[in-house]
Amino acid sequence: MTETSNIESILQEDRVFLPPENFSERVGGAYIDSMETYTKMYARSIDDPDGFWAEVADELDWFERWNTVSSGSFPDVKWFEGGKTNLCHNCIDRQINMGRGDATAIIWEGEPVGNSGSGEVRELTYHDLHTEVCRFANALKEQGVSKGDIVTIYMGMVPELAIATLACARIGAPHSVIFGGYSSQAIADRVNDANSSVVITCDGAWRRGNVVPLKDNVDAATELTDVIETVIVLKRCENEIAWVKGRDHWWHDICESQEEDCPCESMDAEDMLFLLYTSGSTGKPKGIIHTTGGYMVYTYLTSKWVFNLRPDKNQVYWCTADVGWITGHSYVIYGVLPNGVPTVMYEGAPNFPEPDRFWEIVERHKVTQFYTAPTAIRAFMKWGDEYPRKHDLDSLRVLGTVGEPINPEAWMWYREIIGGNNCPIVDTWWQTETGGHMLTPLPGATPTTPGSCTQPFFGIDAAIVTDDGIEVKTNSGGLLVIRKPWPSMLRGIYGDRERFIDTYFSRVNGMYLAGDSARRDSNENFWIMGRIDDVINVSGHRLGTMEVESSLVSHESVVEAAVVGVPHEIKGTGIAAFCTLANGFDPSEELKQSLLEHVGKEIGAIAKPDLLKFTDALPKTRSGKIMRRLLRDVAAGTDSNQDVTTLEDFTVLAKLRSDD
Ligand code: PRX
Repeated sequence: MTETSNIESILQEDRVFLPPENFSERVGGAYIDSMETYTKMYARSIDDPDGFWAEVADELDWFERWNTVSSGSFPDVKWFEGGKTNLCHNCIDRQINMGRGDATAIIWEGEPVGNSGSGEVRELTYHDLHTEVCRFANALKEQGVSKGDIVTIYMGMVPELAIATLACARIGAPHSVIFGGYSSQAIADRVNDANSSVVITCDGAWRRGNVVPLKDNVDAATELTDVIETVIVLKRCENEIAWVKGRDHWWHDICESQEEDCPCESMDAEDMLFLLYTSGSTGKPKGIIHTTGGYMVYTYLTSKWVFNLRPDKNQVYWCTADVGWITGHSYVIYGVLPNGVPTVMYEGAPNFPEPDRFWEIVERHKVTQFYTAPTAIRAFMKWGDEYPRKHDLDSLRVLGTVGEPINPEAWMWYREIIGGNNCPIVDTWWQTETGGHMLTPLPGATPTTPGSCTQPFFGIDAAIVTDDGIEVKTNSGGLLVIRKPWPSMLRGIYGDRERFIDTYFSRVNGMYLAGDSARRDSNENFWIMGRIDDVINVSGHRLGTMEVESSLVSHESVVEAAVVGVPHEIKGTGIAAFCTLANGFDPSEELKQSLLEHVGKEIGAIAKPDLLKFTDALPKTRSGKIMRRLLRDVAAGTDSNQDVTTLEDFTVLAKLRSDD
C-alpha cells in the first residue's frame, strides 16, 4: 500500500451541509433534487447501463443511430458502435437548429484592462461561432488537413482556441492541445509522438501583463523536430516574431476568403476526437485517446447535472481552467456548448491587475456556475477577504472544484466568502483518462462534507479495493478502481498499447486502476487520499517525478536526481528535488538557479522545483532503490518514524537532515 494511505493522518471531518432549501428555485429547477432520486436513478444506471445511456444519447443529434450502446470489456470497450455523429455539430449547429442561433455561446474576456477598468470582451453567438469555425475549418482543409490528421494547438486562452478545437472536430481531425506554459522541448516531444505536422499558435499570450512568446517557442520546437511543416499563427499580442515563408501562415490571411459554411464530417462514434498528453510514472508523457460518441454523451450529461445547466434561465457558466488541460476540454467547451448555456473564457491571471479580477468578472457577467481549482481558492484566501467582498457575488448558484484534494479550510472559505453560504459545492474527482466527472456531488441532492468528493456519478461503479480486487472495510484505505466501463473512458495511449494495459488494467484484475488511493466513510462518501504512483499534483497540474528527474540529469552538472512532492500552502503539493553533482561542479546558488531555469526550459515553468538541495549521495536501499519516502520527510521537515532498516548508508540521511 502507499505511504499516503495513513488513515490516522486524515482529518476527521464530519460537518454535513445539505443543498440550500431554495436551490431548485434559484437554478430554475434542480435536475436531481433528492438523494432518493439519486439512489433510484443510480441503481438503474448500474443495472441497465445501456438503457440509461441510450436515453441520454437520444437528447443529442446523431446522423445515424448506433447498433449497440456498449460492447466489449476492459480494456477494449466501445460505446455507440455503428452510430455516426459530430461533436461540433452538437455544440453549434444543433443549437442553431433549435432556434438558439442568436443566443450567446462564448463570453470571452481578455487580460489587459483598458481605461474602463475592465478587459476587452467578445461575445460570440452560436451563429458567430458557426461562421468562425466553418471558415477556419475550410482554411485547415486548404492547408491539407484531412480526416484523421492530428493537429497540434498551442495557444493562449483566446476564443480562437475554442474555434480551433471545434474546427478540428468538425472536419474529423483529432487535436492535441498543448498547454501554453509548456516549453519548446515539450512541444517537440508531443509533436513527434503524434506525428503532427500542423501546429496552430499565437504570436503571444497575455499573462500577468507580460507576453508569453508562444510563436518563439514553436519556432524553437521546429529546431528539435522535423515533423512540423505548417504553422498557423493568430495575431494577439502584436509582439515581434520571426517568420518562415512557406511554413508560417497568419490565421487571418488563410481565413479571409473562406466560405462561411463547412459541412460536418460524419464521424463514427469510436473515431478519435482528440489526444491529450498527460504525465505518468515514467519520464515520457502519454497521449490519452478520447473518441467521439461516448465522450460527447458523458460530458454533456455531467455538465448538465453536476452544474445544473439550464438554457433560457439566464445562466452564465464559468470554468477557469485552461483549455490545455482536460478540464478545459470537457468543461469549457465540449460538455457545456451542447447544453446551451454561455461559457466564459478568461485569458489571463486571477490577480491581474488586482487580486479581485475573478470576482469582478463574476459580478459583471453575472456568473451563475463557477468552477475552479483548490490551489486558486487557497491563493484567494491568502490574498484576503477584502477582494471578494468588494463585489456582488449574488448571481452565483453552484460552486465547483477540481484537480486535487481540497482542504476543509479552503472548502469552508469558498462556501462562506464566495458562495455566501447559499451555494452547494461540487468537489469533482476525475482524470484526463476518465474524460468526465466520476465522483461528485449533485448540487440539488447530495449532502456535502468539506474534503469529500462524495458519491459516484450515474453509471460509475467505483470501489476501493485491495490488490486482489476485494473491497476494503469502511474507512480503510485502498486502491480506487472503476469496475465497469463508462462512455468517456480513454480508449488507449497513443502508440503504446502495452503501457495502456500495464498502467490501468494489470494491477487489479478486470478493473480500471485510477492511480489514486481513497477511503469511503460510513455515509458511503469517498475521500481521495493521494496518488499511488510517481505522479504529483502541483497546483492541480499533473507532473511525473521522473519527468522532472530526467530533465535535471540532462543538465551537465547533475549525476543523479530524485524528485518528491512536498506539502505546499498554496500549490497543495510543491516539488522538492535532490541532486548529486558531477566531478568539477560545486553547489552554489548560481548553479541552483541555472538548474531551475533548465527545468523551465525542458518542461515548463510549472515543473520548476520549489526546493532544490545538493547532496553527496541519495538515501538508497541495499538493492539500490532511492528511498523516496525518506526524502519526502526531509523535504517536509518531518519525521514520520519510518522504517529505515533497509537503508544502505545512515550517514546520508543524517547529513540531509542536518543540512539546511
Ligand atoms: O489525483 C487525482 C487528482 O488529479 C488526478 C488527475 O489529474 P489530471 O488527469 O490532470 O486531471 C485533473 C482534472 C480532472 C487524479 O488522479 N484529482 C482530480 N480531481 C480531484 C483530485 N484529487 C482529489 N479531489 C479531486 N476532486
